[in-house]
Amino acid sequence: MEKALTVDFEKLPTVYVVTPTYARYVQKAELIRLSHTFMLVPKLHWIIIEDSEWRTDVVSKLVRRLKNEFDFHMITHLQEPTPQTFKLKAGDPDWKYPKGIWQRNKALAWLRKNYGELDSNGVVYFADDDNTYDLEIFREMRYTRGVSVWPVGFVGGMLVERPVVEKADIVTSFNSMWRKNRPFPIDMAGFAMSLHLIISNKNATFSDSEPIGYVESQFLKQFVKSWTDLEPKADKCTKVLVWHTKAQSPTLHEEKKLKQPSSDGLVW
Ligand code: UGA
Ligand code: MN
Repeated sequence: MEKALTVDFEKLPTVYVVTPTYARYVQKAELIRLSHTFMLVPKLHWIIIEDSEWRTDVVSKLVRRLKNEFDFHMITHLQEPTPQTFKLKAGDPDWKYPKGIWQRNKALAWLRKNYGELDSNGVVYFADDDNTYDLEIFREMRYTRGVSVWPVGFVGGMLVERPVVEKADIVTSFNSMWRKNRPFPIDMAGFAMSLHLIISNKNATFSDSEPIGYVESQFLKQFVKSWTDLEPKADKCTKVLVWHTKAQSPTLHEEKKLKQPSSDGLVW
């Protein structure tokens, strides 16, 4: 493991972690879980972008607490609302529209605007707020030159979706089954890229008009031409260090019978 005390902190490339997040019952719990992982990673800069017109109290208070109580200062708190036309309506299936697009684009714009003050050796990772991250994945991605890739658990209808690496350390195929003709059949959690690449391709963004499942491919195609350009990590893509976990919405059938919410008057 990377230990802050045993590594030369100054020389470590910064990991810029980009997390879109939106208000729902489990949001605070998810962000606490996530932040307690990120705090343990040396030289991690967390860019958190709320899907909202304004920066909410829930997230602002958490950010303040992380800074004051835990001394975790490398946090940038932004907000960018999803356009009304892309918001799910009651009864819509959750895959109808892509998620996190506008928030990730906001982070890309922030990175490009502030590049002068950032770590030019840095790496960028798009880490959604509901996944589970092994600390080791950050060590794996830290020295990414272009685009690095690794397996992701519980995604694409499988236990693990992963790049298949042959002897020469080259990605020759993917084991994906769902929409397997995607140019890069991997999840958002399965790749990172150098900050330099994002800066040198200054117009590359996430598109809001890709078919479901093609967001990652559309984004990656702007940076890499073929699978052979990908840098396999996690022991030639044989270790699972990130899981596409999804929190269940809480069951609140008894809550509806109460005159006051059960959380009233509590620190919640
Ligand atoms: C899958 C992929 O893992 C995501 O990276 C991809 O964005 C998504 O599909 C997609 O369909 O666009 P999934 O678990 O279905 O993931 O998506 P969520 O985790 O619900 O959302 C991805 C990110 O966007 C999360 O960080 C979430 O907090 C954020 N989000 C979601 C918003 O900012 N606003 C929303 O209305 C919904
Ligand atoms: Mn998710």
